[in-house]
Amino acid sequence: MEFFIDTANLAQIKEAQDLGVLDGVTTNPSLMAKEGIKGEKNILKHYVDICKIVDGDVSAEVIATDFSGMVKEGERLAKLHKQIVVKVPMIKEGIKAIKYFSGKGIRTNCTLVFSAGQALLAAKAGATYVSPFVGRLDDVSTDGLRLIEDIRIIYDNYGYSTKILAASVRHPMHIIECATIGADVVTCPLNVILSLLKHPLTDIGLAQFLADAKK
Ligand code: E4P
Repeated sequence: MEFFIDTANLAQIKEAQDLGVLDGVTTNPSLMAKEGIKGEKNILKHYVDICKIVDGDVSAEVIATDFSGMVKEGERLAKLHKQIVVKVPMIKEGIKAIKYFSGKGIRTNCTLVFSAGQALLAAKAGATYVSPFVGRLDDVSTDGLRLIEDIRIIYDNYGYSTKILAASVRHPMHIIECATIGADVVTCPLNVILSLLKHPLTDIGLAQFLADAKK
């Protein structure tokens, strides 16, 4: 399973890259705003800066919500760097844009996916990735992981190559369940990736070994 980091923070992206287990980055307009990145020029430069840190795919989201606006913006983003994947919202115009990008060889990530039907449409349009939001579904008392299971079955039934990118992943059990189900990718903040390291028996065992080594 691939690990993407869900942030626009360059220091955190570098820390995850240095760990040696990072496969890519996802951003969204809220994450860019959180880092104080404003204005088209600065935003485009920031995406390039991210691409210089990681080896893998970097999702950059379009702001336009009409077909021609998405195409114009997406083509500009795709030209920035070969690692850029154009992130497109799951709306009618977005599906048309994904189909268009697919025909042009521009890779896409269909975002804001909350149902299996939406994921099926994204795959049919030729999305490279589909991003079901696990945590946001859990937030409204709906089983986000069940959605990942359903999409896995549907994609396997028909051999769709669209990768399931489990997004809005909030804690280590989300990652473990996604891996069990067979999600292709998880994207989450750095602290969630690092939380996989933790186990009290590891800490107790290491302290014991170090104490014994002094004897
Ligand atoms: C990533 O592609 C999504 O934008 C992100 O995972 C959403 O996460 P959140 O629900 O924690 O904001």
